[in-house]
Amino acid sequence: MLYILNYYKLDKIQTTKILIMKRKSLISTLVVLFLFASTIVFALEKPTVKSNPEMPENVTAIIKKSCFGCHNTESKNEDAKEELDFKKLNTLSLMKQISAYKHIGETVEDNDMPPKKFLEKYPEKKLTSEEKQVLIAWAKKEAEVLVKSK
Ligand code: HEC
Repeated sequence: MLYILNYYKLDKIQTTKILIMKRKSLISTLVVLFLFASTIVFALEKPTVKSNPEMPENVTAIIKKSCFGCHNTESKNEDAKEELDFKKLNTLSLMKQISAYKHIGETVEDNDMPPKKFLEKYPEKKLTSEEKQVLIAWAKKEAEVLVKSK
């Protein structure tokens, strides 16, 4: 009888131990699951990759020289501002930014910008072919980076 009691005690201790172990592994499983889930959530919430907010200096210089006068928030040229505001470019949705960079590349490539009338008045604002290449390459790269970040 004593033996059985002893055996029973032992068994109880062991069961408790097993229960504790089970609980421990349950907790660690939960922790692992939580970490896993938060990694996924974090990955999904990947913030929209902003286009380089700091334009390269040579690009900034060209835009300041030939575009910024019309395409900025304080511009009095409402049409130009509405089409493109270099100051607000980074705040647009991803799709609009991509489209803006594509249009920048295209208009420069086609010699549509700066407008011809404006250049008649300010011939010094005309883009040199080197400046055109810099702008086109920059706009293309920015658009590509944004497309990849989608
Ligand atoms: C004298 C003012 C002026 C200057 C300087 C100027 N733009 Fe414009 N831009 C406009 C106006 C006005 C519009 C809207 C009407 C139009 O499309 O012609 C426009 C439209 C645009 C558009 C939208 C066109 C489209 O089809 O989506 C882009 C892109 C653009 N400009 C880029 C530039 C770039 C790049 C420069 C500098 C190299 C520049 N602009 C210089 C006045 C200007």
